[in-house]
Amino acid sequence: MKLFDVYPINNIAIERARGSYVWDDSGTQYLDMYGGHAVISIGHSHPHYIKRLTDQLNKVGFYSNSVRIPIQEELTNKLGEISGKDDYQLFLCNSGAEANENALKLASFHTGRKKIVAFKKAFHGRTSLAVAATDNPAIIAPVNETEHVHFLPFNDVQSLETYFHQEGKEIAAVITEGIQGVGGINLATAEFLQTIRKLCDQYGVVYIADSVQCGYGRTGNFFSHDFADVNADIYSMAKGMGNGFPIGGILIAPSIKPKHFMLGTTFGGNHLACAAALSVLEVIESENLLYNAIEMGKYLETELKKISEISNVRGRGLMIGFDVSADYKELRKNLLLNQKIFTGEAKPNVIRLLPSLALTKKDAEHFIVSLKKEIHSMTLKPVQ
Ligand SMILES: Cc1ncc(COP(=O)(O)O)c(C=O)c1O
Repeated sequence: MKLFDVYPINNIAIERARGSYVWDDSGTQYLDMYGGHAVISIGHSHPHYIKRLTDQLNKVGFYSNSVRIPIQEELTNKLGEISGKDDYQLFLCNSGAEANENALKLASFHTGRKKIVAFKKAFHGRTSLAVAATDNPAIIAPVNETEHVHFLPFNDVQSLETYFHQEGKEIAAVITEGIQGVGGINLATAEFLQTIRKLCDQYGVVYIADSVQCGYGRTGNFFSHDFADVNADIYSMAKGMGNGFPIGGILIAPSIKPKHFMLGTTFGGNHLACAAALSVLEVIESENLLYNAIEMGKYLETELKKISEISNVRGRGLMIGFDVSADYKELRKNLLLNQKIFTGEAKPNVIRLLPSLALTKKDAEHFIVSLKKEIHSMTLKPVQ
């Protein structure tokens, strides 16, 4: 048998990981400014994470959602406390797509409506409705095509108002990332998010804040949407939530009432996943990682803006993007091959930084020095 070949892969096998570093099978060390795909929130193989998971595995790894799972209740309380949404309800699942799928489904149950508003360049996952709300026809299979999803331009308040005035009574949900990740690090404006809130209130629509990539502390707020000072009705989460252990979930506003069996899952909220998620929140709290994300983000942005060969440096906290011109289109590949640094990308020409929230100043400096070195060797002239 062989693997189904859907990923263009780098020929590197990671064997060991610690903090913001990983090592391949020949012992080469890499700085991980990609956070293993925006997933590593508290650092690779954090000792508290290992202990929590090991202890849990030695007790019970899994039992079904047909019994009480006290560690789910512990996670719910901790998440309510740290996110500041302690009056919300938590539904647990296994991935970001599943979180959005459940969020959209719940919005439709709640409103009895079918229309979904999503935005250009959005990415919400690969399951049926999540992918239909994703602005990339190449990954939407014919069976997932639906007329229920309507795409509007991102950050365009006027077109949002016009569409709501025409169709408001038919809309079940508006779904948006606080910062578009796959779309290229595009920041939602406060006015845009506030308008979504206002229109959703006016027309009885559910506001879904996709926080899968931009959430869980990455921007320094627990949810990246929080800076706009309005609450969403549902927040979807995954990636950093388990620091690599598969877990996702949605936070649901108190106005949305549950009914038995309206949502469900076999694996969601299992003992091990909850142990992983709890350890993440405990480390975020004890190591003050939201503050660290802000500080390290400021440092990186300031230093990146001094490099004239890159442009349009933007982001918040440790979710940062910058553009590279055609002359430097090999920069990301070269950073990996020559400087041993993993970064993310967004088509056509964006480098995305999504490191662990525990990134140290030394790691951040190492990145800036190596980036300048690589640009220098590509231009064969000194950079400042
Ligand atoms: C904003 C956003 N939503 C949803 C998803 C889907 O998450 P998953 O791959 O865990 O299904 C992603 C993944 O990149 C994402 O960036």
